[in-house]
Amino acid sequence: MKKITTLRQAAITSVAHYLPEEVLPNSFFSSYLDTSDEWIKTRTGINTRRILRKGGSSDLALPAVKRLLEKRGITANDIDIIIFCTVTPDMFFPSTACVLQDKIGAKNAWGFDLSGACSGFLFGLETGRRFIEAGGAEKVLVIGADKMSSIIDYNDRNTCPLFGDGGGAVLLEPIEESEYGILDSILHIDGSGGEHLHMKAGGSLNPTTHETVDKKWHYVYQEGKTVFKSAVVGMADVSAEIVEKNHLTSDDIAYLVPHQANLRIIDATRERMGIPPEKVMINIDKYGNTTAATIPICLSEWHEAGKIAKGDYLVLASFGAGYTWGSILIRWAY
Ligand code: COA
Repeated sequence: MKKITTLRQAAITSVAHYLPEEVLPNSFFSSYLDTSDEWIKTRTGINTRRILRKGGSSDLALPAVKRLLEKRGITANDIDIIIFCTVTPDMFFPSTACVLQDKIGAKNAWGFDLSGACSGFLFGLETGRRFIEAGGAEKVLVIGADKMSSIIDYNDRNTCPLFGDGGGAVLLEPIEESEYGILDSILHIDGSGGEHLHMKAGGSLNPTTHETVDKKWHYVYQEGKTVFKSAVVGMADVSAEIVEKNHLTSDDIAYLVPHQANLRIIDATRERMGIPPEKVMINIDKYGNTTAATIPICLSEWHEAGKIAKGDYLVLASFGAGYTWGSILIRWAY
């Protein structure tokens, strides 16, 4: 007999985040590098970032996930799938999803790591959404967590002030009301951009040797200006496109939730969408670029502050290494 499947709607039903306590101000960098608080502030929008000294990305996710479960009133055993989005896994294998599964004791879960750099969380959200819609899971944990300080050269002024450490997580569940939840997505990759933003060694192409360490190939390499130009166009285009595609206008959007890489990229996206500054979630000033974690941290902070209401339309948007970029349209469900 032919199997009939009805697609279900997936929605975020809980969100939480974690930031390590140690604060690194811009003055830290100007104390030993040829840079200044003024340069970093005006060119990036960043004032401070958080740093995790001990532990890996799983330790950035753990407090966020515990809080998320508590908020939703469920236990780790209720989780079906863990999708851990990161470019700074605790180690290559086992996956950080496995590490976290053990730490929280999610006995009934399976899961995997997802490498989408700054767009990792959006790619994870889309993946989790599809498992829910197809009936393959009831509760999917999507985590964005990166310990960027582990792959940053603190003597390279071009990259070291930009990044910070942090973690965020959302729970996806099926919901009855089909007008709420994750409504649409536009996602892209373009590998030809890889040469401009990458980490050269540590993988199978350039395994770790004394030479790769000496050449500093285990750090983030970025041609900032080139990436900036692509990011401005990429993020602004997909954000405007998803609004138009869904027959909405900028007035309908409660918040733009942009990846936090550079305040000037965020401003360009906002202007292209024609929405006022108060409708943009911005915390890059406090945390810098936490890669896969920026968007869930924003969602969590704004939700905890009571600034997101049921029925709000949110446009999530990102651009990052790969290149990877995209937008997701959500109608907040709780
Ligand atoms: N302090 C002082 N000067 C700095 C500096 C720092 N921390 N970092 C770079 N500079 C210098 C550069 O060396 C350059 O000097 P030069 O003209 O003598 O060569 C000058 O400032 C201008 O550099 P430029 O690259 O034009 O600056 P910018 O305005 O593009 O800003 C970035 C640099 C990295 C902040 C910006 O390009 C950026 O945000 N890029 C995109 C990041 C991104 O979106 N990444 C994707 C997600 S990870």
